[in-house]
Amino acid sequence: MKTQIAIIGAGPSGLLLGQLLHNAGIANVIIERQTPDYVLSRIRAGVLEQGMVDLLREAGVSQRMDEEGLVHDGFELAFDGRSEHIDLKGLTGGKTVMVYGQTEVTRDLMHAREAAGATTYYSASHVQPHDLKGEQPYVTFEHNGETLRLDCDYIAGCDGFHGVSRQAIPAGVLKEFERVYPFGWLGILADTPPVNEELIYANHERGFALCSMRSPTRTRYYVQVGSDEKVEDWSDERFWDELKARLPAPVAARLITGPSIEKSIAPLRSFVVEPMQYGRLFLLGDAAHIVPPTGAKGLNLAASDVSTLYRILLKVYGEGRTDLLEKYSEICLRRVWKAERFSWWMTSMLHRFPDTDAFSLRMQQTELDYFVSSEAGRKTIAENYVGLPYEAIE
Ligand code: APR
Ligand code: PHB
Repeated sequence: MKTQIAIIGAGPSGLLLGQLLHNAGIANVIIERQTPDYVLSRIRAGVLEQGMVDLLREAGVSQRMDEEGLVHDGFELAFDGRSEHIDLKGLTGGKTVMVYGQTEVTRDLMHAREAAGATTYYSASHVQPHDLKGEQPYVTFEHNGETLRLDCDYIAGCDGFHGVSRQAIPAGVLKEFERVYPFGWLGILADTPPVNEELIYANHERGFALCSMRSPTRTRYYVQVGSDEKVEDWSDERFWDELKARLPAPVAARLITGPSIEKSIAPLRSFVVEPMQYGRLFLLGDAAHIVPPTGAKGLNLAASDVSTLYRILLKVYGEGRTDLLEKYSEICLRRVWKAERFSWWMTSMLHRFPDTDAFSLRMQQTELDYFVSSEAGRKTIAENYVGLPYEAIE
């Protein structure tokens, strides 16, 4: 088999890149380890920056998002007994975010790909990229008991943090940067009306809490838990009690609880590899970087990587500009690091750390107080939350 771009992984990165390339007449094949149902069963984030919303529109997959997504003009920061509104729209000259689940983005992209008739191999095993430094790279994999070979011009590694693409790069080439946080997020999905019109990020002495949503009838809530906690030890009742204890009293009083549809614990990690390219292999999204979810940046960073590689490939195939390929990593990394910084900062400001003492607690409260009391501070939070601009490729 032969194609132009071999894409490994059918998460949001792989599917979005595939759709944009397909629309532009650039052939691509996606190879995914799981089944479509499995991919769609993963509950992930749900806040889309304007840049990602625009990219989904450009890809022609925005119809349901535009109908059902919730445009949010701001969010609440609760700390030290206060509740502070961050007016995203007012502080950024009109920018907003879209609350629309990653699962729904993925579903829309899968439907669009199916309708377009582009090739996807699901349930593929032993996926392996080869000859990355050569002129003719290829990917081998097993599918329905057969061993297949896909020859291509370039490989897009969109296979997440645990994927094979990053591991296919020889040892010593990549520089890794990592911070593992000493806690996780216990998340619950429930068919209950949201407690608040906007998201609430809460710093509380019992630990961080977040009120989010998927629709006017479906909510997503999180509480910070220790790294050793087990989801089996968290009954719905225990979760709701803990959440209420961490929210401002008026919010807790109006919280409507209900049975959970999904409940899971996710670890928190910051991770980046440099560079994001090796020969003809390009890493995108979680394959190259992870952020803790506190700034809602993971999915959005995947989208900006996709945008960068897509625009470079348009020039490569349209104008023969292969020189631009070398710029992919540096363009992406400048934005990646800024989102890493914001996610790390939000995480640091809002969570209880095992070594949080009286002094560091006051520092946390004072830094939050300083930021929200200053127009410059509020603007800094807002411009990062709505998403920093995508860098042009030249
Ligand atoms: N071969 C083929 N596919 C693989 C392999 C492999 N060896 N390993 C992993 N995959 C698949 C996974 O099953 C998954 O469907 O690659 C896909 C990667 O998808 P995601 O993990 O969702 O990563 P990505 O597409 O980069 O999405 C961006 O940012 O912060 C996050 O939650 C956010 O998951 C989102 C991510
Ligand atoms: C979510 O809705 O799942 C969500 C929202 C905001 C975050 C993280 C997760 O910062």
